[in-house]
Amino acid sequence: MNARAGSSGIREPAAAALRPSRQINIVLRKADSAADAAQGLADSAAAASGVKAMPQTGPWSDWHKELDKMVGLENVKDLVYEIYALLQISQFRSEAGLHAHAHVYHMIFKGNPGTGKTTVARLLAKLFQNMGLLTKGHLVEVERADLVGEYIGHTAQKTRELVKKALGGVLFVDEAYSLARGGEKDFGKEAIDTLVKAMEDYKNQFVLILAGYTMEIDAFLLTNPGLPSRFPIAMEFPDYTADQLIQIAEGMAKDRDYSLLPQSLFKLRDLILQEKTESIYPFSNARYVRNVIERAIRNQAVRLLAVYPTGASPGRQELMALRAEDIKSI
Ligand SMILES: Nc1ncnc2c1ncn2[C@@H]1O[C@H](COP(=O)(O)OP(=O)(O)OP(=O)(O)O)[C@@H](O)[C@H]1O
Ligand SMILES: [Mg+2]
Repeated sequence: MNARAGSSGIREPAAAALRPSRQINIVLRKADSAADAAQGLADSAAAASGVKAMPQTGPWSDWHKELDKMVGLENVKDLVYEIYALLQISQFRSEAGLHAHAHVYHMIFKGNPGTGKTTVARLLAKLFQNMGLLTKGHLVEVERADLVGEYIGHTAQKTRELVKKALGGVLFVDEAYSLARGGEKDFGKEAIDTLVKAMEDYKNQFVLILAGYTMEIDAFLLTNPGLPSRFPIAMEFPDYTADQLIQIAEGMAKDRDYSLLPQSLFKLRDLILQEKTESIYPFSNARYVRNVIERAIRNQAVRLLAVYPTGASPGRQELMALRAEDIKSI
C-alpha cells in the first residue's frame, strides 16, 4: 500500500501524477507532465498548511460555513481546503495558459460510526459541483446489499445501475470492506471489478468514496493490491472527545430551537462517558448524541403535556428547555 505523505492524507503526489493514463483521473484541463503535476500539488499543499489565510469572500467562504459548523475534524477541513485550493489554482493556471495537471479525486474515508463521514461526503459533492468538477453534486450512498446480487451477472448489473445514478455526483460505498468478505468466489469481488471498470468508463463523471472502519478498510486495501493507487486521498475521521460530543449536542439542540440547561449538559456528559466505556456495541459518536437529543425532545413533549394538560401553552422558555430529567440513555 502507498505510504501517506504528511498528515494531509494525500498520498504520493508524484506517483499519482505518474499514474498511467488508463487510470481514473478527473482532468481539469489536459493531462501534463509529472513534474508540473507534482509541483502543483506541492504548491497547494504548502498554501493550505503554511498560509492559513482562508478567503473571506467568494465560493470558499460561502461553502466553508457549512463545513465550519462541524465540530473538530481539523484534518478533514485542511484536506478539503487543499482540494479547493488545487481546483482554484488549476483554473487560474489554465487561464494563464499554463499546464493544469490531472488529479484523481476518488477517496477513502476511515473512521468509526457517527464520525461525520457521510456528512462530509455530502458537503464535498456540493463543493465539487460548485467548482465545476461535477455536474450535479448529489450523493448516492450504498452498501454491500445494494451492490451485490444473487446470481452471476446480477451484481455487475446492480452496480452499474447505481454508478449511473451517481453520475455527476459522488458514489459513497459504506462498509466497503464487506465487498471482500467472501473471498474469490463471492459476488462482492464482481462489485469491486465493476466499480473499477466504471471508474474507467465514466472517467471525470463521478467521484467514488469508499468508507469504513479504519482497520477493516486497511485490511481491504491490502487484499486488493490494485486498489490503493486508485484512491490517492485518504481522510481519517477520529472518534470525538466527550467535549466535542457535548459541543455537537448543543449545536444539534440549537438547530432545532431547543436549549440544554447546565444540569442537562452534566447528565449528557455522564451518559456519553458511560456509553463510551461500558456499551457492548461500538460507540456511535455523534449519532449517539443525536439519538439522545431526539429522545430528550420526545421526553420533554410528554413532560410538558403532563404539566399543561389543559391546552395552555407552556411558553417559549419551557418549550425550548431540555431539562436533566429529559436526558436519558437510548
Ligand atoms: N463534527 C460534527 N459536528 C456536528 N455534527 C456532526 C459531526 N459529525 C457528525 N455529526 C452528525 O452526526 C450524525 C452522524 O454523522 P454521519 O452520518 O455523517 O456519520 P458517519 O461517519 O457517516 O457514520 P456511519 O459510519 O455510521 O455511517 C449526523 O447527524 C451528523 O450531522
Ligand atoms: Mg455514514
